[in-house]
Amino acid sequence: MSLFERPPLGAVGDAVPHESADLHVTGQALYTDDLGVRLQGLLHAWPLQAPHAHARLLKLDTAPALNVPGVVRVLSAADVPGVNDAGVKHDEPLFPTEVMFYGHAVCWVLADSADAARLGAEAIQAEYEVLPAVLTIAEAVAAESFQGSQPTLRRGDVSLGFEQAAHIFEGEFEFGGQEHFYLETNAALAYTDESGQMFIQSSTQHPTETQEIVAHVLGLTSSQVTVQCLRMGGGFGGKEMQPHGFAAIAALGATLTGRPVRLRLNRTQDLTMTGKRHPFHARWKVGFDESGGLTALQATLSSDGGWSLDLSEPVLARALCHIDNAYFIPHIEVLGRICKTNKTSQTAFRGFGGPQGMLVIEDILGRCAPLLGLEAADLRQRNFYAPGEATPYGQPVRHAERLQGVWQTLLQKSEFAARQAEIRTFNASNPHTKRGLAITPVKFGISFNFTAYNQAGALVHVYKDGSVLINHGGTEMGQGLHTKMIQVAATALGVPLKCVRLAPTRTDKVPNTSATAASSGADLNGGAIKDACDQIKERLAAVAAGALGVHPNDVRFENGRVYPLGHPDQGMDFAKLVHDAYHLRTQLWAAGYYRTPGLHWDRAAMQGEPFKYFSYGASVSEVEVDGFTGAYRLLRADLLHDVGDSLSPLIDIGQVEGGFVQGAGWLTLEELRWDTSNGPHRGRLATQSASTYKLPSFSEMPETFNVALLEQATEDGVVYGSKAVGEPPLMLAISVREALRQAAAAFGPSGRPQQLASPATPEAVFWALEEARQVRGEVVAADD
Ligand code: MTE
Ligand code: MOS
Repeated sequence: MSLFERPPLGAVGDAVPHESADLHVTGQALYTDDLGVRLQGLLHAWPLQAPHAHARLLKLDTAPALNVPGVVRVLSAADVPGVNDAGVKHDEPLFPTEVMFYGHAVCWVLADSADAARLGAEAIQAEYEVLPAVLTIAEAVAAESFQGSQPTLRRGDVSLGFEQAAHIFEGEFEFGGQEHFYLETNAALAYTDESGQMFIQSSTQHPTETQEIVAHVLGLTSSQVTVQCLRMGGGFGGKEMQPHGFAAIAALGATLTGRPVRLRLNRTQDLTMTGKRHPFHARWKVGFDESGGLTALQATLSSDGGWSLDLSEPVLARALCHIDNAYFIPHIEVLGRICKTNKTSQTAFRGFGGPQGMLVIEDILGRCAPLLGLEAADLRQRNFYAPGEATPYGQPVRHAERLQGVWQTLLQKSEFAARQAEIRTFNASNPHTKRGLAITPVKFGISFNFTAYNQAGALVHVYKDGSVLINHGGTEMGQGLHTKMIQVAATALGVPLKCVRLAPTRTDKVPNTSATAASSGADLNGGAIKDACDQIKERLAAVAAGALGVHPNDVRFENGRVYPLGHPDQGMDFAKLVHDAYHLRTQLWAAGYYRTPGLHWDRAAMQGEPFKYFSYGASVSEVEVDGFTGAYRLLRADLLHDVGDSLSPLIDIGQVEGGFVQGAGWLTLEELRWDTSNGPHRGRLATQSASTYKLPSFSEMPETFNVALLEQATEDGVVYGSKAVGEPPLMLAISVREALRQAAAAFGPSGRPQQLASPATPEAVFWALEEARQVRGEVVAADD
């Protein structure tokens, strides 16, 4: 019954498809907004979005909306019985009097149809006093418009580190955010249930917090509000905090009208109203010794938090905790701060600040390698953590040797050296097309930095016929958590997969849950499910021991059979044992609980051991760039990633592939453009749909895509020896950007630092290679 050991036979580790795959591909999977049509008298909610980035709301005349046929009610601040706030920091009024970003909803219209609600919103008369708006990080820094705490990560003494340096470089780097673009936009459906309680279906990664916020908006207790999440059509962090306000609007509407209320944002509303990945600006100074070893890093990271805090502080903390990535930096001082701007409130996004921190150090290494006369791959490798070393925040880097292991294996599998030589030849003979090849590592800490979140609960029922129903606190957003949990329960109880059914996530089943986030869904909920199953099995083993005449410790549960150790031919069916146990009055269900051991974190000092373990990986990318347009193709990507002993290999490979492609989208295609002019639409998001916001599609997939999981990688602190997988692979995409840097640099003379904007869109790549070409031109001219 150890947490990590696996029985010889069991569903864990089997390559099974996603538990809802059939439903997904046949269109039968139900999402929040599919449920509304089943209800009588459904009302539709529509927001009135303010057309200013920053303004005082002077007047709101909602009466004309009520003259629109079908409009039932307009919700505004005066309707709130509890607290008019949709957040946890008391800085997110649900109905604002001060418009904080272009598209901010000032009130909501309820009507019999979505069209009527939209026309109602258009009829409302609102007057605003326009106020000055802060939009960019540069403007915020100049205006000292910051919010939240300003943590510093520090180890050693940077001035000493710079004294020891043979080379010191300085630079700046600003990079963009990312839209989640989940297929299912934010949605909520609320009604008063048969016993007069508020029931909400919500597309939320954090049902408990949705429940808490609805309760405080309505002035109710948590016990009076139930939130259910069947599944999400993607969350990616965008549904960790953003759904709460929408659920609260639906719940308020349902309370005031006595009718069910549906709220589903259309794509443009979702894009213009909900938060995105934080853009960052970094100013840095770095020192290297003679052989390229890092001696010191000093940096200031400024993130763009948007109009309110929500998760900006923990996102920044994770960025600071990942600026080291895979590298030992003896002396380090990194200051973090969060800009307050008149934009959507930037929030969690796969990696949660980790990608931003890592991108800074990888950019530094990619830029500095030529100045040190080193190949970027060598510079990276020589700075890897060695066993026994610790991170700047004081956590020993356990299994640091895996970094070298993953790296060496991948260099070989990808035939890195041979291809590098081929590319040199190719580039020498092709003036207008250049190729680039790069390898980058990932080290990502698993657990919530906020220690209290590292707990989970589950409920496991065994019915008299031997069938099993499980429930846990995690939510399903496509990542395959439910599939894994079914595998864990089947393995722990020793029954076939088909005996286990999973019931939807609900706050009245498992209370006080954490967000399904930080990639820890399977670690935490899997631990809780296994705990519940182990309790049941222990009681069943006592019954079986009596019947079989052996010690309870010698009873084995395997594939629906229960038998004495060493005698699989003897024994009985699981269902028979369960039936007998019931008649002996044995409790056949249990609540399970798990808390990650060994974590501690001092948020003010930025010191401690916030992570249970690190996930490791590396990737090699090869690109080809066209010198006339900057257009490029990703020719080949090789990924090797550490998921411990995989709980579910098909799911994990899918997560690695999806994470990588999503990361490549962030770094190379997806560009959020805001109107930063002083015109009438200052602050408006210009990229409001898929026509202007370019997502990765099949045509951007690598032409050759080799994805492998690290073998023999048991993680002995986690359920069945596995590791989290959800976020870390996103950062494998940094090698795509580094390969583009190499290719752009190849248009110029060697040995110069090549800068590259992020996202490295074809346009950005064109300007980068143009710069390289110009330097070459100057060199040639000088030679003449
Ligand atoms: N995979 C899919 N298909 N859809 C998603 O929304 N979210 C990612 C990742 N993988 C996501 C996904 C994010 S941001 C996280 S934190 C993890 O899944 C959350 O799930 P887990 O903890 O069960 O891995
Ligand atoms: Mo993921 S960004 O932790 O929801």
